[in-house]
Amino acid sequence: RTDDNIRPRRLQDYIGQPVVREQMEIFIHAARHRGDALDHVLIFGPPGLGKTTLSHIIAHEMHANLRQTSGPVLEKAGDLAALLTNLEPHDLLFIDEIHRLSPMVEEILYPAMEDFQLDIMIGEGPAARSIKLDLPPFTLVGATTRAGLLTSPLRDRFGIVQRLEFYNETDLASIVMRASGIIGAKLDADGAHEIARRSRGTPRIANRLLRRVRDYAQVKGDGMINADMADKALNMLNVDHQGFDHMDRRLLLAIMEKFDGGPVGVDSLAAAIGEERGTIEDVLEPFLIQQGFLMRTPRGRVATRHAWQHFGLTMPSHLTSLA
Ligand code: ADE
Repeated sequence: RTDDNIRPRRLQDYIGQPVVREQMEIFIHAARHRGDALDHVLIFGPPGLGKTTLSHIIAHEMHANLRQTSGPVLEKAGDLAALLTNLEPHDLLFIDEIHRLSPMVEEILYPAMEDFQLDIMIGEGPAARSIKLDLPPFTLVGATTRAGLLTSPLRDRFGIVQRLEFYNETDLASIVMRASGIIGAKLDADGAHEIARRSRGTPRIANRLLRRVRDYAQVKGDGMINADMADKALNMLNVDHQGFDHMDRRLLLAIMEKFDGGPVGVDSLAAAIGEERGTIEDVLEPFLIQQGFLMRTPRGRVATRHAWQHFGLTMPSHLTSLA
């Protein structure tokens, strides 16, 4: 992945998320000085905010290896057992989408996390035996888009829980500025802010837009990305001034034009725009809610006043009290 080159490797190069950074600095420092493995870490937040990046940084700062897998990949207890028995002391095991672990695999994880003990059944029927193995002290890093989807016994076994927030414009501008230096793009401060403002608070999107804006500046200009060049490129890319892309607009417009502004259930909405419910909940909605364009109510999703204004539409009077 090309992302690997621009990913920060040290906590001191990690921009934004000041709460996470300050806490992790202390916990890592303390664990290292005691010679312990870091306590298990749960990282949650919308996609693209740096859950993987943060786990790479933790591994680097702990001078340990990072092994990566994901919930859906671990089908059988043996899949997890194979990974756990190959760890070295203080290594990190990163499990992405940890809310999608099968119950069987999750059962194995409990004693592994708590006592560094592997407790598995081998064989079947009368020949089945249970074996116990000692594991090296390790750190489980679990990542998920929504902590609410974890079972509580699993959640309770993480000593450190970090929630990643959307980045503000200043931090995102610093992130694309740093990335432009690494990939050799010519970007000025106003150009960086224009990209930052239109990146949905998300470094992964900001860095992707940086590459596409660079292409545009190279072909349509002299390669320099200033505010005007960034604006033209982002317009061509269908990223509007709020940073909304095609799917964001489809979602908001569907609520307003097909469902009279809501409230509408997420399943109806998914059918109307041809998108999966999970993608709506995990990818699209968090930013629209954080920006105040969408609300989740007990009766369904509602487009707010901001949404009607953004699209130059008149809000029906029966909604003005609701939204
Ligand atoms: N690239 C992606 N996320 C980053 C961050 N938080 N700090 C620095 N560079 C990044």
